Amino acid sequence: MRKITIFDTTLRDGEQSPGASMTVDQKIEMAVALDRLGVDRIEAGFPVSSPVQFDAVKRIGAAVKKATVVGLARCKQIDIDAVRDALADCPRKMIHIFLATSPLHMKYKLRMSEDEVLAAIKKYVSYAREQGFELIEFSPEDASRTEWDFMVKALKTAVDAGANTLNIPDTVGYAMPNEYGDQMARLKEAIPELGDNVLLSTHCHNDLGLALANSLAAVHAGADQVEVTLNGIGERAGNAALEEIVMALRVRKDFWDVETGVNAEFLYPTSRLLQNITGLVTPRNKPIFGDNVFSHESGIHQHGVLKNRETYEIMNPDHIGRSRETLVMGRHSGKHALKEKLEQYNIILKDDQMDSLYAKFIEIADKKKEVYDEDLFTLVSGVLGDLPAGWRLESFQTWTGNNVIPSATVQVKKGGDLSIGTQVGDGPIDAVFKSIDQAIGIRGRLTEYVIQAVGSGKDAQGQVKLQVDFDGVLTDGKASSTDIIEASALAYINALNRKEMMGAGEEKSPHPQYQV
Ligand code: KIV
Ligand code: ZN
Repeated sequence: MRKITIFDTTLRDGEQSPGASMTVDQKIEMAVALDRLGVDRIEAGFPVSSPVQFDAVKRIGAAVKKATVVGLARCKQIDIDAVRDALADCPRKMIHIFLATSPLHMKYKLRMSEDEVLAAIKKYVSYAREQGFELIEFSPEDASRTEWDFMVKALKTAVDAGANTLNIPDTVGYAMPNEYGDQMARLKEAIPELGDNVLLSTHCHNDLGLALANSLAAVHAGADQVEVTLNGIGERAGNAALEEIVMALRVRKDFWDVETGVNAEFLYPTSRLLQNITGLVTPRNKPIFGDNVFSHESGIHQHGVLKNRETYEIMNPDHIGRSRETLVMGRHSGKHALKEKLEQYNIILKDDQMDSLYAKFIEIADKKKEVYDEDLFTLVSGVLGDLPAGWRLESFQTWTGNNVIPSATVQVKKGGDLSIGTQVGDGPIDAVFKSIDQAIGIRGRLTEYVIQAVGSGKDAQGQVKLQVDFDGVLTDGKASSTDIIEASALAYINALNRKEMMGAGEEKSPHPQYQV
């Protein structure tokens, strides 16, 4: 049976999207979970873009056991060197080199002629070979708006220089399924190496909601590899969603007669891990993972489902790891039970992370009678989001009511230094943020603030996701607590620590800062 290679770019194209940024520890946990999910290739990041990215790619390369780990590079020597260095000790590594080929990108972004673009592809794909890469993917960025003859020339140049995966990005989600499928079929004819030694790959964005349809059209036309992100996160409207492709191929195996290496029973747990790490919650009606997907409201549907689930369900929730039974944990649950529970969800923590998680679990189990899976996910993302050397919230007090000016006093600590701030604000949360600013001697401007309940009931945790502008640097923060003021303070400090971590890392970087 034809095997479709699943190339996951959640940690590169996905993480690049607003609100999806992760700490290095969170990226490693996600990479390990994706590896266990069974994807073939994990694009871990863009090492030249920042020291934190470099570190993440390096550590993911060491943590992943089965999948090939991929680093992204432009047609530039420092980018290729950064991928080489980051993956130097990784046993299964691959480089992904891209250069735009559409008239629009060449004229306005690159300011390069066609000949210069072809020369750069030849030079840098060959350079990657010389640096020891055996697996080299080349992407003509904005392929779907590239002139046909020039795209074929660019791809042939890449193959002649040593590329063995040709990826065709629909960078701005412009392609139509039949058109994209036809192009894939024509490429197979135009480039004889495709199929034998060279894989043909799809990379579709969802601007017109066509990423899934375009990817499937490409598979139908003979593509060997599909590039995807979990939950479909990614630039603008996102990328083709891993779960949608995998389940379309699996549910309709009769039609496709292809297979992937994905263990579908890990799909839902891995998606939940990502949602909790990033705070990007999937809508209720999102295919495969949405809350509504296995619930039935109308009487006729309920009647049918009670008689036989297949009347209105084309997937078995157990097959994607959406088990209907969940074991509720409480303050008497031991560390071993907690560990087993997490393993069910594809989450394996290091011993020190487990200790820290268990301490937080006991704290919350004392406040709430029952700790639900949702609570655990939030605790896990908190532990993975912890930045060891950063500021900590020692204590806070607020004074508020309908006839008083809200005020707060906050104590924060970094190492042995304790700082105190006291401020009034428009409300208690605003007063807390201003007190933190005063204690630390910074000035943050809140640009986004979202709070949502995690779990159900009066004692549900409040999860705060916010974005702060610290002197022009936009930074995301996230935290949760049964007290929403505490969750807000922790999320604000989390954003501050992330900002400081980025700043500190730059000095140690072997590569200059560059953003895609
Ligand atoms: O969408 C795109 O063009 C990309 C490239 C880097 C392959 O993500
Ligand atoms: Zn992309």
